[in-house]
Amino acid sequence: AHGNRSRPETLKFTAVAHSTAAEMSVADGYKAEMILPLGTPLMSGIEDWKDNREQSAESFDWRMGDNHDGMWFFGKTGNNYDVKASESGLLVMNHEYVNSAELSPFGYDVKKDSSAEPIFQEVRRATDVRREVNCHGVAVVEMKRRASGKGYEMVRDSKYNRRITSSTTSQLTGPVAGSDLVKTKFDPTGLKTRGINNNCGAGLSPWGTYLTTEENFLGVFARGKDASQLSAAQNYGRERYGAKEDHATWGYLWHTPKAADATMADEFARWNMTVAGKTAIDDYRNAFNTFGYITEIDPFDKNAMPQKRTALGRFAHENCAFAPVKQGRPVVFYMGDDSRGEYIYKFVSKAKWSKSDIGGGLKAGDKYMNEGTLYTAIFNEDGSGTWQPLVYGQNGLDNTNSVLPFNGQDDVLVFARAAADVLGATKMDRPEWVSVSPVTGEVYVTLTNNKNRGVDDDQPVSASNPRSYDVNGKAAGNDNGHIIRWAETNGDHAATSFEWDIYLFASPSDKSSENLSGLNANNDLSSPDGLFFDPRGVLWIQTDDGAYTDTTNCMLLAALPGKVNDGSVKTASTGQETRIGLAATDDNLKRFFVGPEGCEVTGITMTPDFKTLFINIQHPGNAWGAVKGGITPRSATVMITKNDGDVILAESFS
Ligand code: FEO
Ligand code: CA
Ligand code: CA
Ligand code: CA
Repeated sequence: AHGNRSRPETLKFTAVAHSTAAEMSVADGYKAEMILPLGTPLMSGIEDWKDNREQSAESFDWRMGDNHDGMWFFGKTGNNYDVKASESGLLVMNHEYVNSAELSPFGYDVKKDSSAEPIFQEVRRATDVRREVNCHGVAVVEMKRRASGKGYEMVRDSKYNRRITSSTTSQLTGPVAGSDLVKTKFDPTGLKTRGINNNCGAGLSPWGTYLTTEENFLGVFARGKDASQLSAAQNYGRERYGAKEDHATWGYLWHTPKAADATMADEFARWNMTVAGKTAIDDYRNAFNTFGYITEIDPFDKNAMPQKRTALGRFAHENCAFAPVKQGRPVVFYMGDDSRGEYIYKFVSKAKWSKSDIGGGLKAGDKYMNEGTLYTAIFNEDGSGTWQPLVYGQNGLDNTNSVLPFNGQDDVLVFARAAADVLGATKMDRPEWVSVSPVTGEVYVTLTNNKNRGVDDDQPVSASNPRSYDVNGKAAGNDNGHIIRWAETNGDHAATSFEWDIYLFASPSDKSSENLSGLNANNDLSSPDGLFFDPRGVLWIQTDDGAYTDTTNCMLLAALPGKVNDGSVKTASTGQETRIGLAATDDNLKRFFVGPEGCEVTGITMTPDFKTLFINIQHPGNAWGAVKGGITPRSATVMITKNDGDVILAESFS
């Protein structure tokens, strides 16, 4: 009875209390187990992780990487993707970034020489940079159900086990492929680049491939003072994506190891966008433009290159969620750009959906993701909204634009942020994960927080981003975040208009003036980030919080949301009115899990039988995840099952 795809009416588990403990806690009746921590060997012959942090850089081609993030469980039967299979599957997950100090005995040992141009210093060891490069990317791990029938174990030496890293050659596809903007010394034709990077949230495609996302790639690139050698578009584009002049002493400094020979020099130089040669194909000035894409991986095809789908735009991609597909209609993907004051986007394919493409792998991706229209969202004050197309030649996206002249669709996509600026897109409070309700078809996006809201002149409070904490009558930014949602006109995901409201305002429950959703100690939260509607329509919310961690560690909550405009109009302490959803109650929002101290809870997937939930723990504190007797904490996956073997939330159906 619990195996069906219905949604419970109310949440009946006992809420997990606030916790600042070193250990995680989960709702009564459930078990949470740590699996697949950083460094776990995926193949025999790779030595076990040791607390000395001296594993070779090369060995990480066959180990779990760092900072586990978005993931998806691909059920399989035999060698084929099977959306209904739960006995065996491929768990595919992102390794977003690295905690340098926890990967090497030397850590992030930056020896600064204030007398020299920082960019010419040797500040990182080659072996440490290589290890870090290999700890990024994606892991594909075959999992099989344990003999006990509950939970899963890794299949070591599986033919599917694979790592894709920031060194793996990747294909550029879509309108930017072959553009002058992506030609580098590595590939003068602009069709390939090396690596995928800072893979944050995840998505599934309707045809059964994995979509990984490139978010904070800014942190691994350096830039010197080279403005005069570049076009206005190139220079403005760099700045608009955060790479200011002299962006050489910030971030991971992967460009700095001393090169022993020319090949090695190239290995590190590729992280440096400073102009070094005569033309773009003599150096890596354009490497920066080859990152920041939705990237498609076929976990069932070990030899296929990751495909960077440039038609979906270049920005700090958080995740990628497809709308329910309809035969003969376009395929639609929703995406957020996670930076303060950035935008929400959707992509509408040119090709019309045919269910015969399920299992079609990267060929289906070529069909649906290389041609189509990218849109950005405007949230009007009256609750209406519009989608504006990022199309070269339309609405001022041409060479008459003085800030950044657009000369083709490649310019529009590589500098999508600048194009969306021209279109007047609404600046949001850091758009993180998107998920689409299988119950209502409405789209939800976490807006995690934004310390600039109401503080910076170009980010005033508005109905869609109404809060700026105001203890002493001063604008102080949105500390705790909210979740916005919308219904596309006539339920058509290809529509160019929508109606929106705020589903939920996150807030500590004791700050009554800003507790607009009526949260209590059983369901209060701060900084919503990971977001996932399970196939039954239960919404799972994860947090990445810094504002409420004196009271509780980051968490996972379960929610049963209603629909757009089911609530009322409320006024934030800024005086800004906004429409918000039904108040939270213990029946419709409840804390299910609290992570260990210092961590962020992110990434979530459920097996097709609803019996296992996988979530990820990033950057835990203390020695959580360390080997026995060790001191080094490790990011890891947490596998949650019900003690009686029933489906997750089974108690809520009785
Ligand atoms: Fe990787 Fe915006 O979180
Ligand atoms: Ca996130
Ligand atoms: Ca976050
Ligand atoms: Ca994170």
